[in-house]
Amino acid sequence: MDYRIAVIPGDGIGPEIIAEAKKILDVIGRKYGHNFQYTEVLMGGVSIDITGVPLTDEALQTAKSCDAVLLGAVGGDVGKSNWYSLPPNLRPEAGLLALRKGLNLFANIRPAVLFDELKSACPLKEDIIGDGFDFVVVRELTGGLYFGERWTKEVEGLRTAVDTLIYNEKEIERIARCAFEIARKRRKKVCSVDKANVLDSSRLWRQITHEVSKDYPDVEFTDMLVDNCAMQIVKNPRQFDVILTENMFGDILSDEASMITGSIGMLASASLGKTKLGLYEPIHGSAPDIAGQNKANPIATILSAAMMLKYSFDLDKEAAVIEDAVRNVLKKGYRTVDIMSPGKTLVGTDKMGDLIADEIIN
Ligand code: NAI
Ligand code: MG
Repeated sequence: MDYRIAVIPGDGIGPEIIAEAKKILDVIGRKYGHNFQYTEVLMGGVSIDITGVPLTDEALQTAKSCDAVLLGAVGGDVGKSNWYSLPPNLRPEAGLLALRKGLNLFANIRPAVLFDELKSACPLKEDIIGDGFDFVVVRELTGGLYFGERWTKEVEGLRTAVDTLIYNEKEIERIARCAFEIARKRRKKVCSVDKANVLDSSRLWRQITHEVSKDYPDVEFTDMLVDNCAMQIVKNPRQFDVILTENMFGDILSDEASMITGSIGMLASASLGKTKLGLYEPIHGSAPDIAGQNKANPIATILSAAMMLKYSFDLDKEAAVIEDAVRNVLKKGYRTVDIMSPGKTLVGTDKMGDLIADEIIN
């Protein structure tokens, strides 16, 4: 079958890690008879240099016409790049926000997986890590505090500012369904995180998520207050399967979750909407300090490509093959510099891609 993928290499290490993800997709395509067609799309600093803006309308339309979008990273060296003298709406990162909004991607999916081989890189104690953890944060991405009405003005002689945390039942229902569907393909547990002891928006959140849960009797459903959840992620991360939460709580909790898995170079993400068209990207940025040196860890991007196969193309088996290949290469002791430890074999970006590809072929 044919799959059309908009590929956005972007800036810094972006082109290097995207090359490795394409290498893996090509190997999967050959082995399982899929035809992945790539259309390159300009975004970020490289787009500013060529077109004057971080994302052109034409680039957005191209992305919309594809079945999925695979992104490296955008951005430059904050201290040095010319792009940072530009107003915020013309900077590289504005391209990413415009793309997420343009594709109406309301669900951000961030798995937090600790690979056995990287336990020594985890800041948690051994008895807490146990035999590892594997959970996923499902964060609402286009509503809540970041999109509510806001203003700053003088009120009764005092400088005053307001942000509004607003959700309607439709927005809550669609992200809740997304979390339950994901849980069904995993260990069938959803923990919904809110602040229902204080916030009206959270009380509605709780009401709607409980209504939705009735359609998923096979999935175990619990609630947790956000402050407790922040503690539980470091106290006992193994209790979680799917964490469902609103935009700002998810922003904070998913960053906390990413830090207990070892390296930023390992973590993938997916942003999904109503259709099968999703955006897949590593959670790290363009890493200008190591760009062009064949040092970047391509695993986060390769695992993002695996998420694309799973969520946009329903190729679950092929996605699992990629995940197993990554595990096996780590098991054999190969490491990029960010996850290097004594006694292991240091490899560059391209060699890491080759090793994972070989694992899939054999
Ligand atoms: P960064 O994530 O690019 O780098 C932080 C540190 O992690 C650096 O020391 C870097 O070398 C290292 N690192 C990151 N990815 C790595 C990988 N795959 N392998 C090995 N080491 C890796 O964050 P930073 O430096 O704060 O931001 C650089 C630029 O990236 C900025 O312009 C920022 O706005 C942008 N950015 C873009 C994102 C995106 O495109 N989604 C996300 C985050 C930042
Ligand atoms: Mg964040």
